[in-house]
Formats: sequence, C-alpha cells, structure tokens
Amino acid sequence: MFGPPGSGKGTYASRLSVKLGVPHISTGDLVREEIKNQTEMGKRINDYSSRGLLVPDNVICQLLQKRISQPDCARGFILDGFPRTIPQAQELEKISTTDLVINLRVPDTVIIERLESRLTCRSCGSIYNERFLKPRIAGRCDKCDGQLYQREDDHPNVIQQRLELYRKQTQPLLEYYLRKNQVRNISNNETHVPPEKVVEEIINMIQAERN
Ligand code: AP5
Ligand code: MG
Repeated sequence: MFGPPGSGKGTYASRLSVKLGVPHISTGDLVREEIKNQTEMGKRINDYSSRGLLVPDNVICQLLQKRISQPDCARGFILDGFPRTIPQAQELEKISTTDLVINLRVPDTVIIERLESRLTCRSCGSIYNERFLKPRIAGRCDKCDGQLYQREDDHPNVIQQRLELYRKQTQPLLEYYLRKNQVRNISNNETHVPPEKVVEEIINMIQAERN
C-alpha cells in the first residue's frame, strides 16, 4: 500500500488482511512498537518518528526483514508504508518479490482533516477517526477495549512536514514501480467514503491481475 500520510494505507490494509488471509505489515507500527517497548533501537528512532522524519534505511530494513521471516508471512503479506526510498525497494527485491503497488491518491485538504482527527488504539494499533470513523464507545477500541490516543506525529506542523517529505523522498519511488508496470491507482477525493467500498475496489484490482 503506497500513498501519503493519512491516505488510508493502514485502514485499508488491515481490512484487506482479514479478507485475503495474509498479514498486514506496517513499518510505522513496527517503529512505534520498538518505541513503546523502549528497546535500544526504539530509543534511537524515537526522534525521527515523532518529528515526522524517515527512519534510516538500514534500521527500517532490519525491522522489516525480521518481521517477514516469521512463519505467518510464508504465504505472502501486505506491506503498508514500505518501501519509501529507492534503497529500501532494492533491499526488498533481495529478500522478497512485489506483485502490485496500490497507490492511494488523496488531496492534502482531506489528509489534513483526517489526520487531525485520527485516533489509534494504544494496545492493538486499530485506527479510528473522531469525525469520520468513530469507535462505538468514545475513547475505547471496538476490538480490544484499549485506550485510543492521538499519535505524536499527528500534530499540524508535523503533518505538514510529513507531507513535504513524502513528496521529496517517497513519491519518486512510484517511477521505479511504474517501470515494472505494477502501479494501480485508487483516487479518493472525499473525507468520507466507506472504507469497505475502497477495499472492494482493491480486491477487484487484485482479481483482475490474477485472471
Ligand atoms: P506510518 O505510521 O506509516 O505513517 P504514514 O506513512 O505517515 O501514514 P499514516 O499511518 O499516518 O497514514 P495511513 O495512510 O496509514 O492512513 P490511516 O489508514 O491511518 O509511519 C510513521 C513513521 O514511521 C514515519 O514518519 C517514519 O518516521 C517511520 N517509518 C515508517 N515506515 C518507514 C520507512 N519505510 N522508512 C523510513 N521510516 C519509516 O488513515 C488516516 C485517517 O483517515 C484515520 O483516522 C482513518 O480512520 C481515516 N480514514 C481513512 N480512510 C477513510 C475513509 N475511507 N473514510 C473516512 N475516514 C478514513
Ligand atoms: Mg498507517
């Protein structure tokens, strides 16, 4: 799943994971897990993540490699937020293959509205929105009853920085996958389109490739 911050990568990948029966791997979640557990790596990368900067390629590749060597990844997986640079894409090619790159296209105005009101579960990482995808009980996760919080990088000045960095460092990677003919676009111009509708569109794209 490819796209700017707040384009819905996590929202759609978590639902696709259930439908396709393969794990959803968000490198952002892997980073936040290291920080939460206060590991040595977590302490080193905290500053990058909270300021909306990319974590160095070697660190993020190490985290990814460890995750995809787990048995549940043997049948495939959905990557969310990886790769984000050409070196990361090259590293991925050494350890695995890619089938499709789903490119989420969402205007900045929608992204900013969504991120300023995003809520994330502290326990299981599920994603909600105070305005557009509310939890059943305010402040609590529908799935595990965990506490919902606002991510440190979801503050207005950090959001702006993440959007700029996405354009500079990550968007050029699309060219790399366009040359492989693996990019499929999903455009979403409104704040609220039911996620299930978008997920259905993605599944249709995947099926079209199989036929
Ligand atoms: P990461 O966690 O991946 O952040 P990101 O790329 O900025 O993307 P987000 O998670 O903010 O957005 P999303 O596209 O998942 O949107 P979501 O589904 O939540 O990375 C965090 C940090 O980790 C990075 O800044 C970096 O430091 C580090 N990192 C991670 N990977 C790295 C890498 N490869 N290299 C280097 N560093 C790396 O949706 C957003 C909101 O919109 C939610 O509230 C949701 O409910 C709502 N929403 C979504 N879709 C809809 C819809 N259809 N209708 C209504 N609301 C919707
Ligand atoms: Mg995400």
